[in-house]
Amino acid sequence: MINYDSKSRTLTLETVHSSYQMQIDPWGYLHHVYYGKRVGQEDLSYVHRYYDRGFSGNPYDCDNRALSLDTLCQEYSSWGVGDYRVPSLGVRNADGSRCGELRYVSHEIRGGKYSLPGLPTAWDPEGEAETLAVTLSDPVTSLTVTLYYGVFYEKDIITRAAEIRNGGSAPVELEKAGSFCLDLPFGSWDLLHFHGRHCMERAPERRPLIHGIESLGSRRGMSSHQHNPFLILCDRQAAEDRGDCYGMMLLYSGSFRAEVELEQFGSVRAVMSPGDESFRWLLEPGESFAAPESLLSWGEGLSALTLQYHRFVRENVCRGEYRLARRPVLINSWEACYMDVRPERVLPLAREAAELGVELFVLDDGWFHGRTEDNAGLGDWFENTQRLPQGLGSLIEQIRATGLQFGLWVEPEMVSENSDLYRAHPDWALTVPGRKPMLGRHQLVLDLSRTEVQDYIIGTIGGLLERYPISYIKWDMNRCLSDLYSRSFPAERQGEVAHRCVLGVYRVMEALTTRFPKVLFEGCSGGGGRFDAGMLCYTPQIWCSDDTDAIERLSIQRGTAYGYPLCTMGSHVSAAPNHQTGRTTPIHTRAVVAMSGAFGYELDLGKLSREEKEEIREQIRRFHQDEALLREGSYYRLGEYTARQDAEAWLLVSPDQSRALLNVVVKASHANAPLIHLRFKGLDPDARYAMEEDEGVFSGAALMRAGYTLPQLLGDYPAVQLHLRRI
Ligand code: DGJ
Repeated sequence: MINYDSKSRTLTLETVHSSYQMQIDPWGYLHHVYYGKRVGQEDLSYVHRYYDRGFSGNPYDCDNRALSLDTLCQEYSSWGVGDYRVPSLGVRNADGSRCGELRYVSHEIRGGKYSLPGLPTAWDPEGEAETLAVTLSDPVTSLTVTLYYGVFYEKDIITRAAEIRNGGSAPVELEKAGSFCLDLPFGSWDLLHFHGRHCMERAPERRPLIHGIESLGSRRGMSSHQHNPFLILCDRQAAEDRGDCYGMMLLYSGSFRAEVELEQFGSVRAVMSPGDESFRWLLEPGESFAAPESLLSWGEGLSALTLQYHRFVRENVCRGEYRLARRPVLINSWEACYMDVRPERVLPLAREAAELGVELFVLDDGWFHGRTEDNAGLGDWFENTQRLPQGLGSLIEQIRATGLQFGLWVEPEMVSENSDLYRAHPDWALTVPGRKPMLGRHQLVLDLSRTEVQDYIIGTIGGLLERYPISYIKWDMNRCLSDLYSRSFPAERQGEVAHRCVLGVYRVMEALTTRFPKVLFEGCSGGGGRFDAGMLCYTPQIWCSDDTDAIERLSIQRGTAYGYPLCTMGSHVSAAPNHQTGRTTPIHTRAVVAMSGAFGYELDLGKLSREEKEEIREQIRRFHQDEALLREGSYYRLGEYTARQDAEAWLLVSPDQSRALLNVVVKASHANAPLIHLRFKGLDPDARYAMEEDEGVFSGAALMRAGYTLPQLLGDYPAVQLHLRRI
């Protein structure tokens, strides 16, 4: 709901649980007034008291010592004219000055959801969204910024984006283009962010803000393993079920900056923008630049915030056939065969898998021309005839004859120097003339800012999908960008290359997913190095991490699940001892963890005992039974109430509250340890639930207040799943 009150010149955006308000002042500054728990549409500007703060300067035409851009809460902060906090934009004007301030020009409220040229945005399949577009302009340079707000009332999400247009008569250079700016005037805040490394992505880290700027982000040309473009600001007392929590998720897959500033008077500003400090974009007169979209949400408690993002990402970010559909249980050849994907290795694996109830076989790395090690072949997307003498088509046929669907691994954004593609087009790689490029896994990155490179990828991958009955593509990306230089742009446009490469990836993904709507695409980047809402617009699932150890996966998946729903996280049962950690965990525990994700297997089934194979058959049977609950159920972290730090517990409750699935994994067993006691959440307090494994019947109220005590769980990494059904 969006309302404009012309008397007070306030614009109020409302969702079921939140209100967001801004106000246009007499000089045209767009004040941010309020964002938080829903309070109605009354003018809330009284909470901001303005007074002379001495060293905070005042706009020339206001003649008012109390009004200062230095302290004003703004919808999109100015730069170089007296606001010394984090700017939303950086602009080098035609005269070389770096100043700009934005004043209100007009606004428009309309039904439906805006979109952005060249960028993915949340979509509105149910036609529920409303758009507010506020146009601001710099009176001197005529640089114009249109701020977009998309209001998803039922889902408690407000999307934001900005489009910057050079309305003047001389070129200007953008040095920064914020997606949004959010000023929180009062309160004391913790920052919860998700950091990591390869094989340990999205570890939650919560810390109080201290005065100054917290700057997180990526310079790697991908959203990165190191920092996810999702942040939460929560009040110091916030916990799962209480406290103001604000989420900010950038829908972008390249380098980014997230800046959070606690300033002198205690207010907090958050700005997220694409690119790093090397970002530049030349705007000729009349040209526009779209800053990517962000998804903002306010929730009472971290749990509510998570549920809001889960629903929204699932329903309004993901798209395509598999958005709300069951995904096939897959087996991936990587940890079973690595690059040795000869038919004599792969076919027995497929046969065993089909026998056990797996539905899709994924042929991972190693199948294409010249590829026997990781130093060759990328770019040549046709089969390696040494490995597959009868051709890819024949292998696919034989795999499909087992009853499995077929999926294929590709890494189209990359090129090996030892490849036909590189020999034909060395200039298609990102390299700086006269400089030896950095290698990553022996490979170079293709210059996706070039249309002919994008077209090559669309053509070759599209060709594979046309020639063969392929139901699934794993789209990998195994190194960071460096040596950012494109031969197709002049010197003054080289600062654009990183962003243009991301736009190139989006164009390719858009073309392929539109042309092949039935194919399930899974994103990947050395595991979860590009796990972001931008990619989720095209790949409804992303391989969550190259670390497949069930115990390490607990924290990786818990961290990821703060913002992203379980169905987006590729998760597989792999071998024991685990290939990354050497740890041995029970196959049951591995399945309990993997089922809370896009479920599959990634191990040599031929090495398993008869009992283990039986267990897999049973796991798949159970998975089908619980699949809808795992995919669309409300997800609750239960760690907060247990005295046991060495156990991980999470719960799924079906949307109609008729079913629930409790998952518990013990990470370390101790002698004479306290029992694990948990309180359920999200159940119907007045309903009675039968617990399958306990044969007991409990009221929802009892399970949520008195809780449930598990029996002693001993041994190495035991896990339990408890099923509740309303009776
Ligand atoms: C990295 C991925 O994360 C792995 O799962 C596997 O596909 C390898 N690349 C193949 O090179």
